[in-house]
Amino acid sequence: MNLSATTLWKLSKVLVVAWAATALPFVDRARADEASIALGKLIYQDKANCGACHGWAGDGQGDPHASGHAANLRLTTMDRAQLIEVIACGRPGTPMPHFDAYAYSDNPCYGLDEAGVDKGKPPEPPNSLQPKEIEAVADFLQATIVGKGSPNKAECVAYFGSSNHCSQYR
Ligand code: HEC
Repeated sequence: MNLSATTLWKLSKVLVVAWAATALPFVDRARADEASIALGKLIYQDKANCGACHGWAGDGQGDPHASGHAANLRLTTMDRAQLIEVIACGRPGTPMPHFDAYAYSDNPCYGLDEAGVDKGKPPEPPNSLQPKEIEAVADFLQATIVGKGSPNKAECVAYFGSSNHCSQYR
């Protein structure tokens, strides 16, 4: 086949358009992840106050007056789906709250409804979270806490936006 220069030029344009169509969703996805991580940080810090129990760094060093021994989230082996489940459903029989308002009622958890979980129902949080917000917290945990080792000063400053709370870190 003998392709003329014009045909080749047209073909290359088709290829560029096809490439852009497949590549753009990835660019969008990366942006969505950043937005989700930023939202997750706000929720972890403020709306859900996960840090009160788990510590700002998620290392389990929360407020000494917080109920129960909160898990060290830096050491958790949970994947994204498992993180979402435990945030939505809490942990029956422990102080880990259920952040989905409909957990155990409209949305059974671990195969349990209200009757099944009974007295083991995890506590109500001060603020419930929407599914998107729960996903955002999971994204924040995976991006900045899970598997990150001991917290350091740079992470502390990034979390608080200043070094005021960070003198004990190096
Ligand atoms: C009232 C204190 C408290 C609050 C608030 C709290 N947690 Fe927990 N969380 C716990 C405790 C206690 C455990 C350990 C439960 C157990 O013994 O299995 C836990 C366990 C977990 C686990 C399971 C880790 C593992 O590897 O087993 C995850 C994930 C988690 N919490 C995330 C969060 C997130 C995210 C938030 C905020 C949206 C949050 N927690 C708010 C007390 C709390």
